[in-house]
Amino acid sequence: MVIAEGITKRFGNTLAVDYLSVEVQSREIYGFLGPNGAGKTTTIKMLTGILRPDSGSIEILGMDMKDREMEIKRRIGIVPEEPKMYENLRGHEFASFIMEIYRVHRDETTRRLSEICQAFQIDYLDRFISDYSHGMKQKLMVATTLMRQPSVLFLDEPTVGLDARSAKILKLLLRRMADNGAAVFLTTHVLEIAEKMCDRIGIIDKGVLIAEGTMEELRSRSRREDDVSLEDLFLELTGAEELRAIIDQMGE
Ligand SMILES: Nc1ncnc2c1ncn2[C@@H]1O[C@H](COP(=O)(O)OP(=O)(O)O)[C@@H](O)[C@H]1O
Ligand SMILES: [Mg+2]
Repeated sequence: MVIAEGITKRFGNTLAVDYLSVEVQSREIYGFLGPNGAGKTTTIKMLTGILRPDSGSIEILGMDMKDREMEIKRRIGIVPEEPKMYENLRGHEFASFIMEIYRVHRDETTRRLSEICQAFQIDYLDRFISDYSHGMKQKLMVATTLMRQPSVLFLDEPTVGLDARSAKILKLLLRRMADNGAAVFLTTHVLEIAEKMCDRIGIIDKGVLIAEGTMEELRSRSRREDDVSLEDLFLELTGAEELRAIIDQMGE
């Protein structure tokens, strides 16, 4: 469903993403995990056709991003890091606008939207988006994206701004979509989120994919003998172990 090969993006002297290859299958929730500035947003922007890679290739649903960009964009769903929405629309107007753009089947889509709104406790569709908090926008963005039932779904830090209950709902909705055949690619800087929500995890640091696998595979990759936590492994891989030692000393 998603195949990226050797994608690279440079901003001036910053190598944001360095020859990265990644694949996501149908029925899979792939977690792209890394610290701030690792290159997660840049990667997701390339995968969704928002940013053009300097080199490398991207194939979504068997279509090459270079020559089928519009068709790909019609078929995928994107929940960006900063949901940019028309602030002077009310929530329900925004949802109608999305339905018109994507020419979805209205009755069916409206039914799904109301189901998702109920799950997320979105009871503010009559209010202007300009009055929404980040979390409220995030939930509406997720709802209007999921109502289209895209077969490939990209979410950039989707749980930022969501309360625990909404994060749990999101997890269940994504699982259901994946079980119905969708491929889900989400980024997060929170290890616990990746661990809870994803079937497979790729760890990115300084633009490089440094480890990839299921939780079990990542754990077994640790240099240590004992039962290491994924958090320790993450810190080990991203070279943050000294940081932890410093913090531990501070507490003494
Ligand atoms: N438009 C841009 N111009 C210049 N540098 C950028 C731009 N976007 C991202 N970067 C840089 O690329 C690196 C990766 O950023 P980003 O992909 O946003 O990381 P993440 O989403 O993992 O926090 C960072 O060093 C960031 O400062
Ligand atoms: Mg980001």
